[in-house]
Amino acid sequence: MTSEALQKAREYEEQFGGNIRREDRPLFHLSPRVGWMNDPNGFSYYKGQYHLFYQYHPYSIQWGPMHWGHAVSPDLLHWEYLPAAIAPDTDYDDAGCFSGSAVELPDGRQLLMYTGVQRQLREDGARQDLQTQCLAIGDGLNYEKWTANPVLGDADLPAGFSRFDFRDPKMFQNEDGSYGCVVGCRTEDDSGAILLFESADGLDWHFVTVLDRCYNEFGRMWECPDFFPLDGRQILMCSPQDMSAVGMEFHNGDCTMFLLGCYDPKEHRFEREGVQAVDYGLDFYAPQTLLAPDGRRIMVAWMQNWDTCVGGQPRGASWFGQMTLPRELSIRDGRVIQVPIRELDALHGRKIAYTDIPVQEETVLRGVFGRTIDMTVKVRPLADCKYSQFRMKVAAGSQHYTSITYSPQTSILRISREHSGVDRDFVHMRECFVRDRGGEIKLRVILDRFSAEIFVNDGEQVMSMTFYTPQSADGISFQCLGKVLMSVEKYDIAMDGYNL
Ligand code: FRU
Repeated sequence: MTSEALQKAREYEEQFGGNIRREDRPLFHLSPRVGWMNDPNGFSYYKGQYHLFYQYHPYSIQWGPMHWGHAVSPDLLHWEYLPAAIAPDTDYDDAGCFSGSAVELPDGRQLLMYTGVQRQLREDGARQDLQTQCLAIGDGLNYEKWTANPVLGDADLPAGFSRFDFRDPKMFQNEDGSYGCVVGCRTEDDSGAILLFESADGLDWHFVTVLDRCYNEFGRMWECPDFFPLDGRQILMCSPQDMSAVGMEFHNGDCTMFLLGCYDPKEHRFEREGVQAVDYGLDFYAPQTLLAPDGRRIMVAWMQNWDTCVGGQPRGASWFGQMTLPRELSIRDGRVIQVPIRELDALHGRKIAYTDIPVQEETVLRGVFGRTIDMTVKVRPLADCKYSQFRMKVAAGSQHYTSITYSPQTSILRISREHSGVDRDFVHMRECFVRDRGGEIKLRVILDRFSAEIFVNDGEQVMSMTFYTPQSADGISFQCLGKVLMSVEKYDIAMDGYNL
């Protein structure tokens, strides 16, 4: 049965979602049907298509009582909106249906697990909402909240773990058909940990172990965990809040990291062996993965960050927040590598290519422009000439540009949206170290109207950012202090007839 709150949200999005012009949204990145979007939820492959739910407040472009928005896609690029899946409409989730995940039940139904947030007041009158894990079961379109909700709460937590910060269940299916689930939780030292729960049938859950703990070393509360094998390693991925920068790493306050290790499923022991930042850009948080039918581990994230929402919202917009391009994960040389999903290649339209063009003064190449493109730029130094900086401008017009700058002496790649037309003073620049290759660098730049994602050296690092420069600013230029040879291969992204 559809509750009043869900019915209202569905009517609202039906009425107002259609008013957003197609060209005012990203072309192939998912944006909310209307209003506000944050974390990806329930990212899954179910009944022949990909499902991507999202934290959703349809009624404004601000965060508010959380619903789950819903979209499906055959290829993770062409999205179709479905009606909102769940709304805050019970006593145990009256303050919001927070992030969670999806799996398929043996009888073919889809199971969602989310964090129910229940309004509560402390004795001193301050709000301290309770967080529990809850289920909803459906057919890929309509979902019923489970009668035995919540299925995990205070009583399931080990001593010292907080029921007020206990959220973001990510389920997965074990080889024997049973289910596991990782959930973030605050610990008594005011930092975070990831808890593992198990269930034989997906409905009845029990606590198993603490997989890993923060001990205030990597931020505090760990949100949005995911736990998956990857090329012989085990990855525990999470989004730490309140993280201080460490050298050139972890500059976003709310950060994301891969904990690389090994896992003994019999003893339920995760051994952490390494830590790696997930994205080095300005806008990236709360990633979640799925296992595709062909065995690929695919990750998507909210292409935004909590601090960059403040001031980052374009005036007059009726949507805010978007997902990253889904990325394929693999391990190379002991590190997690991310590349754009290969489905993007099928959308390659007109191709423009240049080989070994000398670049010095600001250079514009005929045919190299656009705001919905997949462009690979390879730079190599000349034997007899060192260079000190290579700079690319994208989304460039007479007044605006966004820049990507590489300095080979320091091996630092910098992105900046300072001149993208933004008129608020929040963070606009981010830098990262890339592997020194004697001045060579390869950058795959994906532009989709309001964003740039830069995949460095075949996915060793990624830098993601959003910007709202008018679409007429579609210029691209290259410039070098010194001299380099540059090759460019650019494809327009063609989605003719696609009408979200
Ligand atoms: C992460 C997060 C989650 C929570 C959701 C609420 O961005 O804070 O921990 O479930 O957002 O919208």
